[in-house]
Amino acid sequence: MKSAMDRLERIVLMTPVNRELLARSLISEGQMNLPAAAYVDASVLRWEMEHFFDGSWVCVGRSEDLRNAGDRRAVRLGHERALLVRDESGKLRAFYNVCRHRGHELMAVGETASGRFVRCPYHAWAYGLDGELRGAPGFGKSDGFDKADYPLVPVRIAEWQGWVFANSSGEAVPFEEHVGNLGDMIGNHGAGELVTAARQDYEVEANWKILVENYHECYHCPSIHPELCKVSPPKSGEDHESRGAWVGGSMELEDHAETMSLTGESFAPRLPHLAAGQEREVYYYQIFPNLLISPHPDYVMTHRLTPVAPDRTHVECEWLFSRETVETEGFDPSYATEFWHITNGQDWRACESVQRGVSSRGYRQGPLSPEESTVGKFVAMVARGYLEGRVAQAPGRTSETVQ
Ligand code: FES
Ligand SMILES: [Fe+2]
Repeated sequence: MKSAMDRLERIVLMTPVNRELLARSLISEGQMNLPAAAYVDASVLRWEMEHFFDGSWVCVGRSEDLRNAGDRRAVRLGHERALLVRDESGKLRAFYNVCRHRGHELMAVGETASGRFVRCPYHAWAYGLDGELRGAPGFGKSDGFDKADYPLVPVRIAEWQGWVFANSSGEAVPFEEHVGNLGDMIGNHGAGELVTAARQDYEVEANWKILVENYHECYHCPSIHPELCKVSPPKSGEDHESRGAWVGGSMELEDHAETMSLTGESFAPRLPHLAAGQEREVYYYQIFPNLLISPHPDYVMTHRLTPVAPDRTHVECEWLFSRETVETEGFDPSYATEFWHITNGQDWRACESVQRGVSSRGYRQGPLSPEESTVGKFVAMVARGYLEGRVAQAPGRTSETVQ
């Protein structure tokens, strides 16, 4: 009994947002949007960084960007920073981006380099690609100093479908459990075989969850996406039943459209392993917390979100095609990038307006429509996560009610 009470007390203390307001975000009938604090409070973002990002599996990019032995890159990882390194055997490793001497960062976030040694820019300690300390200028054989005592501290990583995920706390559930059955949903698109044909970065003045919520519904499409509505009926598609920390579903293409582009025309071959019917659909999935995966018949688009502040999010958008397509002379992915760049811009303007709205003292939680069922699942995951202190599994078709 005592331990149950302790747990309850801990949960109450840990919940970063008012529990009564959260309860309205957990019910399936009459479900409400999240309370304002979830979008505007710095303390809530800190809590999310700790529990939803550091405590879970964050996507940090594509494995293919570190192709050769010695390739490395420093990345943001929730509260932390990590150094991704391709070692001599071809294995990808990750370490905290912290020198074992006096803690200088080994590389600046976003920086890439290649070479056999990772050299700290402060006093030039040098590490091998396995993280072992190889050189510490001036230490020689000084008393009691053994290089073996100062390897870089490893970070847990997983590679899946060509993406790299890292768990900073080391305490997340196994990656297989986290990703659940999402591989069954996107497997035919063969993302692991695809390569990045184009990339676009955005800074959006909105909370990361506002971007996610916007992604999960097309209720707004008739109002703000005239181009999208020409190639994909906004009310089409369905939610998919998930096992794991993901939510999402499908939408259909209009009869005349081969893919999502301004004309509906595709300028790339269809991906080779699609099942019957998949050439008529586009899918929209989120693997919690930060990767949005949108498989199309001919390419896969992703949005990778990095929260910068409660009201600011960095977005890296990538378009992945088969290697043969990208290497075909004259191939130009702009039919896909142009369409989504226009659509992204429309979405970011809406998200930034919502951010200004939720920051107003006039904001109240509003009800989610039947066309926002995937938003509802995401909101329930976030609300349940706040209560449980960790990433929650996606709710099933019949959402549970908080007690
Ligand atoms: S802090 Fe890295 S060598 Fe001194
Ligand atoms: Fe949109």
